[in-house]
Amino acid sequence: MKNTPLVSQYEIERNREIAENIGRLNNGKNLKYYIESYGCQMNEHDAEKLGGMLINMGYTATEDKNEADIIIFNTCCVREHAELRVFGNIGALKKLKDERPDVIIAVCGCMMQQKSVAEHLYKRYPFVNIVFGTHDIHNFPTFVENALCGDRTLITRNIDGEIPEGLPIRRSGSFSTHVIIMYGCNNFCTYCIVPYVRGRERSRDPQAIIDEVKAVVAQGYTEVTLLGQNVNSYRSSDGQVNFPKLLKMVSEVDGLKRLRFMTSHPKDLSDELIEAMATTNKVCHHIHLPVQSGSNRILKLMNRVYTREKYLETVEKLRSKVKDIEITTDIIVGFPTETDEDFKDTLSLVEQVGYSAAYTFMYSPRKGTRAAEMDDQIPQEVKKQRLKELNDLEASILQKNNLKFIGMKGEVLVEGCDKREGNTMAFGKLSNFKMVYFPGSEDLIGKYLNVEVTDTHHNSLIGKMIEE
Ligand code: 5AD
Ligand code: SF4
Repeated sequence: MKNTPLVSQYEIERNREIAENIGRLNNGKNLKYYIESYGCQMNEHDAEKLGGMLINMGYTATEDKNEADIIIFNTCCVREHAELRVFGNIGALKKLKDERPDVIIAVCGCMMQQKSVAEHLYKRYPFVNIVFGTHDIHNFPTFVENALCGDRTLITRNIDGEIPEGLPIRRSGSFSTHVIIMYGCNNFCTYCIVPYVRGRERSRDPQAIIDEVKAVVAQGYTEVTLLGQNVNSYRSSDGQVNFPKLLKMVSEVDGLKRLRFMTSHPKDLSDELIEAMATTNKVCHHIHLPVQSGSNRILKLMNRVYTREKYLETVEKLRSKVKDIEITTDIIVGFPTETDEDFKDTLSLVEQVGYSAAYTFMYSPRKGTRAAEMDDQIPQEVKKQRLKELNDLEASILQKNNLKFIGMKGEVLVEGCDKREGNTMAFGKLSNFKMVYFPGSEDLIGKYLNVEVTDTHHNSLIGKMIEE
């Protein structure tokens, strides 16, 4: 499918100039920005883009909103809980704004991509200067300019924008980073708001992706995670490059050590992708494969387009072809009409697969989605009870499964150092995404080291450094 160009490169260029002008005005003022980001990695990445633009406008990052000159809430609307938190946190800013009226407050992200919510927030909180949706990130310098001139901005364009290329990015972390390969989602799982707020699938040009990976490697990053709502449906606009091909192309970037990706939809995880995972050296042996439910009846109502049996078949194929692969998942409990029997099917699937991590959620009705209109919504108490039962089961499976790693040797990328209790423990992830803690100091951060697993601790593993 051809992408429809709606966001012109002109808009991006114009905003770059506006940012530079603001940067000149702000020069020497030591201004700061604070971003609070909710939700998924896609949102985190949007926050990194806002950070990049803010740096061009002369602001530096701060962790303390009390000293910030611009405060941004990058919202998520995937579940209600995150939404309520945002409203509460924005309300709490009124006092700060009364004391320092010059502070610019902006609210953006998926939640603001819902027109009625954005309008409601804009009216309810007159002290918020800027409200904008996910499709207008590249216009952020214009909104800041408006705010500096005393004008408020409210913009929620419900369009599938052209992919804005070339925005500055302030990446968090120093060794591992994300590169977006596609935006939007076409799957319309019946519980999910994402296709409504993030729009239709649009794949980035493979060369733009490779150039970005080369650029981050040149900055010192050695591990890259390719991001998309459903990476399996990545396809270049000329139809020549699908996701397995892209993985191979990206893995050829010199200096890159590890390549990860997420998220994969089980319905179209191809043999070609499994083959690419098995044979492309830099690709890590981990896959995040959200199952959502173990009941065929619920999977159908969710519009997931696979059955439990098909999912298990895919898991088997992955395990037989990709050495020591670990699988993580997302699960929703309490989807409308879910019976005890359906829930038991989920529990048994979790036991059967043996995930190395499961992100579990109570179903949260999202306005405008099909599931929110379904009869037989499940009472909150039942959802809570099922979530607890599922989490307890996952924890006990995890404890048992973790034992299989004892004695295993592998390479970790050291992410940090924990100095609690007088012990200095370095930690990092194996290729399979398992976290290993081992005696080590801060100077190891960013290095690839061989470790042997000696013990387990809750979700993680304990180990020691070994010679290669
Ligand atoms: N309620 C609960 N969980 C949801 N997710 C997406 N939409 C909802 C919802 N309405 C979960 C899914 C998805 C993850 C990112 O969030 O499990 O995989
Ligand atoms: Fe939502 Fe389903 Fe798309 Fe994932 S694949 S973003 S759950 S609609």
